[in-house]
Amino acid sequence: MIDAFRRLYGSADGIRVFRAPGRVNLIGEHTDYNLGFVLPVALHLATYVATAPARDGKLRIYSEDRRESAEWPAGEIAALTPRRHWTDYPIGVAQELIRAGSPVAPANLLVRSTVPEGSGLSSSAALEVSSALAMLAGRRMAPLDLARLCQRAERNFVGMPCGIMDQYISVFGEERAAICIDCRSLKHQVVRLPDGVAFVAVNTMVKHQLAGSAYKERTEQCAAAVDVVRARHPRVESLRDVTPAMFDEAESSMPPIIARRARHVVTEDARVVEFVAACREGAVERMGELFEASHRSLQHDYEVSCDELDFLVDAALGIEGVYGARMTGGGFGGCTVNMMQPDVVPHFEREIVQLYHERFGIQPGIYPCRPSWGAEEEKNLERIPAVAQL
Ligand code: GLA
Repeated sequence: MIDAFRRLYGSADGIRVFRAPGRVNLIGEHTDYNLGFVLPVALHLATYVATAPARDGKLRIYSEDRRESAEWPAGEIAALTPRRHWTDYPIGVAQELIRAGSPVAPANLLVRSTVPEGSGLSSSAALEVSSALAMLAGRRMAPLDLARLCQRAERNFVGMPCGIMDQYISVFGEERAAICIDCRSLKHQVVRLPDGVAFVAVNTMVKHQLAGSAYKERTEQCAAAVDVVRARHPRVESLRDVTPAMFDEAESSMPPIIARRARHVVTEDARVVEFVAACREGAVERMGELFEASHRSLQHDYEVSCDELDFLVDAALGIEGVYGARMTGGGFGGCTVNMMQPDVVPHFEREIVQLYHERFGIQPGIYPCRPSWGAEEEKNLERIPAVAQL
């Protein structure tokens, strides 16, 4: 990466490289913006941003994936408006840094990523967090402040009303473990994954148009459900506060679509809690059942799945040695996450590739999940992948 940087910018004096991982969410989907629980794993797939000071007053950024560069006078960053372009992520972050009193110095940036874009493995958060660290260039920021700043960049500048999960796991990821985030207190517990189970993500390679608008619509429907419950329970502030009993009582007062959305969130929070307990006991069969129940709830109640995801889940569940399968991330395409006995992984990969290809004529991406540590400066330059490799 140093050589690539030198070729691009003529010099690599003062270069530093920062890394932020993508993630796969094991369970707890569409619960984060309802202040509930999520259980993501940070992946070995990550975004790397190399940076060195620039002498000409500009902030310049080059993406190897897109083979595209952009530049701005550093003094004008605070006034930029979104362009619906990949640079909205780093610029959104830069604006939030400036707003937080941390000026962005002129610099040359080079972005390399192994997180497949649009795959639901959170390439956006990986880009936000790695860019933020590069622009901080070693200045300290508390990890939670960093995660929240990147979430604000996505909400305020990119315009996606996301929860905190993706940025949080990118900052706080742990090797060999998932983390259970309480999205209200913004604290987490480390959850060791049992031996004897492997997680593999499978990429549909599709991203349906609906993704952005449907996400916002779901946040509004959840707010509408809270309003109905609040009429009887004034202290309820989010679906996190709604117990199954409270939901049962309020259900008939809700329009059916709102009731289905709320039922997903209320039951999904309970599934996360149960999954964590099953994980600690090594109850892999139960974990698998909860995976499937989560998927069915997302498919039928929350309606954020799609044919490709449903097909991959059903196909996976038919393969010997698979404990469970579900969509992961926002939905409408992207990846499934599959839980299985480690020795069936090669067979699973062959089968799922063939079945999916037969049905959709598409070669799916396969990513064995290796839980990795959270964002930091990458001091061991040998560890940076030479080219995008999965
Ligand atoms: C996207 C958002 C997250 C979360 C998931 C769904 O990845 O960025 O905040 O809401 O969808 O669980």
